[in-house]
Amino acid sequence: MTEGTARVTLEVDGRAVEVPGGASLLDAATAAGVELPALCSDTRLGPVGSCRTCLVRAGGRLVAACVTPAAAGARVSAVAADLVELRRDAVRTIVSALPPYALGPQMPSELARVCRTLGIGPEDARGAGGRGRDDSHPYVRLDRDLCIACGRCVRMCADVQGTFALTLTGRGADTAVAPGTGGPWAESDCVSCGGCVDTCPTGAITQPGGGSGLTSGELLRQGPGDPAAPAVVRTTCGFCGVGCALDVAVGDGAVAAVLPALDGPVNRGHACVKGRFAHGFAVSPERLTTPLLRQDDGRLEPVGWDTAAAHVARRLADAITAGGPDSVAAISSARATNEENYLFQKFMRTVVGTNNIDNCSRLCHAPSAAGLVASFGLSGGTDSFDDLVRADCLLVVGANPVEAHPVVGARLLQRALRGARLVVADPRKVGLARQADVHLRPRPGTNVALFHGLARVLLAEDLVDHRFLRERASGLAELAELVASYTPEHVARVTGVPAADLIAAARLYGRAERPAIVYGLGVTEHLHGTDGVRTLANLAILRGAVGTDGGFGVNPLRGQNNVQGASDMGALPDLLPGYGKVTDPAARSRAEAVWGRPVPARPGLRIPDMFAAARAGRLQALWVLGEDVCATDPDTGNVEEALTACPFVVCSELFPSRTARHADVVLPAASWLEKDGTFVNFDRRFQRVRPAISPPGHARSDFAALHAVASAMGRGLDCPTPSAALAECARTAPLFAGLSHERLDREGAVAWPCPDPAGPGTPKLYGERFATPDGLAHLAAVPYLPPGEAPDDAYPFVLVTGRRWAHYNSGSMTRRSGNLGLAPADHLDLHPDDAARHGIRDGGDVVVESRHGRARLTARVTSEIAPGQVFCAFHFPASGVNRLTSGHADGVTSCPEYKVTAVRVLAVGKRAGGPGGA
Ligand code: FES
Repeated sequence: MTEGTARVTLEVDGRAVEVPGGASLLDAATAAGVELPALCSDTRLGPVGSCRTCLVRAGGRLVAACVTPAAAGARVSAVAADLVELRRDAVRTIVSALPPYALGPQMPSELARVCRTLGIGPEDARGAGGRGRDDSHPYVRLDRDLCIACGRCVRMCADVQGTFALTLTGRGADTAVAPGTGGPWAESDCVSCGGCVDTCPTGAITQPGGGSGLTSGELLRQGPGDPAAPAVVRTTCGFCGVGCALDVAVGDGAVAAVLPALDGPVNRGHACVKGRFAHGFAVSPERLTTPLLRQDDGRLEPVGWDTAAAHVARRLADAITAGGPDSVAAISSARATNEENYLFQKFMRTVVGTNNIDNCSRLCHAPSAAGLVASFGLSGGTDSFDDLVRADCLLVVGANPVEAHPVVGARLLQRALRGARLVVADPRKVGLARQADVHLRPRPGTNVALFHGLARVLLAEDLVDHRFLRERASGLAELAELVASYTPEHVARVTGVPAADLIAAARLYGRAERPAIVYGLGVTEHLHGTDGVRTLANLAILRGAVGTDGGFGVNPLRGQNNVQGASDMGALPDLLPGYGKVTDPAARSRAEAVWGRPVPARPGLRIPDMFAAARAGRLQALWVLGEDVCATDPDTGNVEEALTACPFVVCSELFPSRTARHADVVLPAASWLEKDGTFVNFDRRFQRVRPAISPPGHARSDFAALHAVASAMGRGLDCPTPSAALAECARTAPLFAGLSHERLDREGAVAWPCPDPAGPGTPKLYGERFATPDGLAHLAAVPYLPPGEAPDDAYPFVLVTGRRWAHYNSGSMTRRSGNLGLAPADHLDLHPDDAARHGIRDGGDVVVESRHGRARLTARVTSEIAPGQVFCAFHFPASGVNRLTSGHADGVTSCPEYKVTAVRVLAVGKRAGGPGGA
């Protein structure tokens, strides 16, 4: 349905119905309670009107309802006997080419249901079959004999996912879907979003059966009241920060299938290979199912929760006695719910008595928090995703959403394909860069120079909003003076971006009516990541494209599912829930009034400082929750040393991770599919997380574990349920005062700030004033400074790390799912010229060495990467990628410089190491 502004009233079989302008007669019939067969129609797709199964009469003419606009005052006949017969004939004709099992009693397809309604049976299906199957893909099964060539799968792949992996081949009745590349599905361009499975009306495309024998989306959507239908739980995806609403079908206590919610606020019926399919980890035999306690002989042995909690309580109390509260530290998690993060920071502040709590946003978007607060006042993206996809120019910087945030990537791609101008700034030619009007490829570590170069063009060509700058911004004179020297030619020398490309990009952004900036870790994970965020924000301020109708601001794509929420909840060493400073007496007393306990005023340790303190013998105890720091943190040799040095380490985990190996107590945790609470996604939306299945064995939510330990320490944490925890948080933090589980259950998603239970959330920020002390947006006049590492003769390549589409972060979940079959190893991408020069072949083993460590990977020779650069993910900790990365970090936030490491690469079999050893 195309949304229109005005509503239209018409009559369907004598009943008046009102539908939005742009709706079709199919929509009108649905609104009137008339269910028409509609085999080539899907609400996520534009109508094509090819199957002719939705015939109705309007204005005396027979028309296909799906492609006929609902006109005001129209009189539509849909249920007349002759129309039913016409539709039956159309469906029967389609069915006649199918084999009888297409309508077998076990077939849960949309077509089978339609046929049951119309009285069409297996005897009407007289096709001989024999067109063959394709079972090559781990998540998709194709039975060509059931294909009716409706094209829904092809259009889902093209119009929603933007991958164009499918096509219709053959002639006449033999026409059927096939991968566009011609070979097996597994070798096609398919990125396993599941859209084709979800839309297929016949069962031609299915996923391998789950616990309930579920094979298609149709079964899931049979709806309440059908005893054969599985239980369905609406929750929010626990992989990346997009926040897709998912419907989890549960049969026999296991996940049978996961489908994207058609009414998902962000994903709107779409999902990616992770949320849709990678749930196998939940039943992995490697799940931790009971607490483990390290014995005197060094072995970790199973114990009961009471023993484990009592031991943790005693050791924490001993640490506090020996070294004071500040000798205890905790790392909370962007994987955990808001309520768990809230409870953990409350535990550390009120039970232990320290602000030594941080979360893994330290490693990714801490510069976003610092930079956006400095520029605009609040620690979040400025606009909603709904608005972003209305932009007429997208500036996508340091992000590869097509792989790392596929649902966002797909919608941005759709926007670009429908006419928005697209500027991509990223060293690699990946994802959206292939569709970009201008692709800027700055050398890693030169973002600030690039952004200043763009700012200079905006100023020089008067592509700025003078009124906005005069009334709502500060710092223009200082910025103009600074960027005067960032001429396109100078910037070209620093960044490697041709001057003409820089100018072209600035003009596209500067001349757009509604430009938007979307960025990722390619902006933040640098030595000067906060400067990068601030100087990128400069562009939106110069254009007056933030807090106005003239654009859609600056929006970070958050990496982990709840990285925004973990910080929102105050799992930070200097900030309380809702971002009150621990150094601010008013913020402290607000929390103290709710908690009934004093809040320490001295900011605590950041994650890198915790490890340094442990190595220096100043840390007595460390609790790491939901984070495999030995796999994901930079320079992991130093992390392992810290954990070894720390006298007492607790690790809450799903699996026996590398970090768990260093722990004295391992607490088995519940996964996102098994717990209750909320997440906050990348555009600040609170959404509910609901348990679909039970955790295995004795695994518990982190929420329950924290209560157990606090109780064993003789201290209550109040808020016995996640719902009570969010309610308490709402009393502690004005930013969230209007939020509750009940409200989210009712409304689905609410964006903060939400100060009033009766008021709306705030999807778009700063409409009247910025949240800075003076109410102005602050331009940042900070100079470009070089990265911490530069290539030289000994280490001639720059290593950039990031994500691949099939995996997620350390891969602890996706490697324990069918996704492993899609991407079984980490690869090192390098340019063909570099490969040839160093005798490295595609698929060959290579050793990568930096000044900090060594990794072993498989080479992937590709021109996606620029000469002199190499790229790899860190989804397989065994490859040792994060041993390579340095300890350099953003000076403002301590975020590691993951994106720039000087390395050398050697084909295995050659001698590694030594100057020039690349
Ligand atoms: Fe209307 Fe196919 S659904 S023609």
